[in-house]
Amino acid sequence: MRIESPRYTERFGSVRINDVQQVLELDSGRAKELLPHENIAVQKIDEDILKSFEEKMAIVIPIKDEKLKLFEGVVSGVPHDCLIIVVSNSQKKGIDRFRMERDTLNQYCHFTRREAMIFHQKDPALAQSLLESGYTDLLGEDELIGDGKAEGMVAAMLMAMLAKKEYVGFVDADNYFPGAVWEYVRCFASGFSMAKSSYAMVRILWRYKPKISVGMYFRKWGRVSEITNRCMNSLISSKTGFETEIIKTGNAGEHAMSLKLAEILPYASSYAVEPQELVSIFEGFGGVLPMAHPNAAKDGVEIFQIETRNPHLHEEKGGQHLEGMLLPGLGAIYHSPLCEVETKQMILGELRQQGIIKPRERPPKPHVSAPLRKMNLKKFSKAMEEYMESYSALREER
Ligand code: GDP
Ligand code: CO
Repeated sequence: MRIESPRYTERFGSVRINDVQQVLELDSGRAKELLPHENIAVQKIDEDILKSFEEKMAIVIPIKDEKLKLFEGVVSGVPHDCLIIVVSNSQKKGIDRFRMERDTLNQYCHFTRREAMIFHQKDPALAQSLLESGYTDLLGEDELIGDGKAEGMVAAMLMAMLAKKEYVGFVDADNYFPGAVWEYVRCFASGFSMAKSSYAMVRILWRYKPKISVGMYFRKWGRVSEITNRCMNSLISSKTGFETEIIKTGNAGEHAMSLKLAEILPYASSYAVEPQELVSIFEGFGGVLPMAHPNAAKDGVEIFQIETRNPHLHEEKGGQHLEGMLLPGLGAIYHSPLCEVETKQMILGELRQQGIIKPRERPPKPHVSAPLRKMNLKKFSKAMEEYMESYSALREER
């Protein structure tokens, strides 16, 4: 793979935010000695380097009642050496969609001889193990893990930790192009191969997000991303004193982290989860508030934003109105202790202009769960021991 070198890096305390890097070649050929200066403006990342990162990576696929064909396509796009972790919140009553997903995955893994795990977000054993290890932030009143993609993501991160992976990446189950999924994972691996700190995050920027209207229109940014990014950049500018447009992936659903970083961040629920990750990094390591973790502060937290070649096309469901997606993300920024009056005004202005809040209303404060390192992982691991086998897609054959 050949990818632009980070050409510009914005610093915010211990956080290094790299400007967008484009993919130049999806495949850069056989490993050869580099010519002098070949790796200055452009990084060539050899296949075996990519593979060495993929081996250490879990790819989480959150799914809720998606078409099985789409799900299977997404699975087929994940490079073989990654551990696939499917976290499902699909229906089990009536038509057992979870079972259909599990069967599809099991069959797929049987023929491709690859490793995968699948579990239901509402699995009582999982909730019980969380309870036993003293981590109740994900649990609802029924003492099961709550609904939502964010809750599923956090549960899957725990599985990645139990599987002793070093990196975790997220890919939605409703992506139409397996080739795009394949590229995301290669971008994750490339980003980590460039990272100097072991506390790193890679966020994907889509080159185009097509809309199907009359013919197909290749849109660059969605409206929600545009507004979220603008407010996030305003928050950074107000602290550094320099206007910036560095954040271009505030809402990136497709993203990855080193587990060392993943376990020290708090997570918001719902659509606030991705913007909140950045907000939490700025709060914890921006140098304005006390540093959240001494080692990460010393090493620095590195953020990569990589622009893919494949366009992003996913299933658009009815409920994806502006309000549902914009409001939680802006709420995460608005309620940050870093957010000053100017950015707050900007957020209120945007939300009012879109007719999402009324004049005296404020965006809701997201529910944020404690970092995973606060839990007793040993206890959790022990409690989960007897169930792990039943999550494995190759289990009947062992
Ligand atoms: P959007 O693509 O960001 O507009 O949101 P989607 O509704 O497509 O959801 C993103 C991904 O999360 C898809 O793969 C969904 O199937 C999945 N998802 C949505 N809700 C849940 C949930 O409650 N739990 C889990 N595990 N996955 C979910
Ligand atoms: Co979608």
